[in-house]
Amino acid sequence: MAEKIDGKAIAMQIREEVGRDVLKLKEETGVHAGLAVILVGEDPASQVYVKNKGIACEKCNINSFEHKLPADTTEDDLIKLVDELNNDPKVHGILCQLPLPKHIDENKVLLAIDPAKDVDGFHPMNVGKFMTLKKYSDISSMGLFLPCTPYGCCELLDRSGVECSGANAVVIGRSNIVGKPVSMLLMSKNATVTICHSRTKNLPDVVRGADIIVAAIGVPRFVKGDWVKKGAAVIDVGVNRLDTGKLCGDVDYDAAFENAAYITPVPGGVGPMTIAMLMKNTLMSATNVSKLK
Ligand code: GUN
Repeated sequence: MAEKIDGKAIAMQIREEVGRDVLKLKEETGVHAGLAVILVGEDPASQVYVKNKGIACEKCNINSFEHKLPADTTEDDLIKLVDELNNDPKVHGILCQLPLPKHIDENKVLLAIDPAKDVDGFHPMNVGKFMTLKKYSDISSMGLFLPCTPYGCCELLDRSGVECSGANAVVIGRSNIVGKPVSMLLMSKNATVTICHSRTKNLPDVVRGADIIVAAIGVPRFVKGDWVKKGAAVIDVGVNRLDTGKLCGDVDYDAAFENAAYITPVPGGVGPMTIAMLMKNTLMSATNVSKLK
């Protein structure tokens, strides 16, 4: 029987810590952390994410600047806005909600964001810097922006007392947003990491050797209960909507629960952590700025 990792509670705890530190930074240095969020178009899921980011900012005492643009906004106009935000001293973090409408080149927009304000950690400069990380504990001293979801996965493991050093970690999925970065982070925590994907041979057997499983493939209940070793920690990044309208993860939760020592639910596991880590990155960006003053 597993212990459920309560992502909602851990995210609240992080938000409280950030909220306190935002006020402290403001009192001590006069720098008041600010986050700009850009939403292009009316994608309903994106609208919910952006709304939740605004609420989280408020809870964390972070100034929030929302920019909602119509779906037919040109790439040039979007990049012009990014440029304005790059030059706005009240803005310490810029997040452009993805996906963008088809006529806009996402890579061009992500490249236009000042790497010093890239709280998503998607700019190639920050991805490159990330590759030089040796120790997880160096993230703050390096002023490194990590992508929020993988960062959140590692915080869940840390705050649940899961030992990563020497553990066999199996990551299922190789995306740029989750699979690749979470693998690098687990390595920085001294885990031995295996990255699996759709062409991996004998996947169930590979997963059976894992002390830590991170599932990030986007296939409902793909990881079966009997793939989970007794005592393993399971982090489920999947958010899949079933025909019934219910959300479920990439792991067969009920079956995995029997074998795992720790497991994240969906919803209420990794999801709330993504926004909490965005708040943490925004605070770090403002802190970086305060050190330059
Ligand atoms: N869309 C879904 N997740 C994310 C995220 O973490 N950042 C951005 N910018 N867009 C997203």
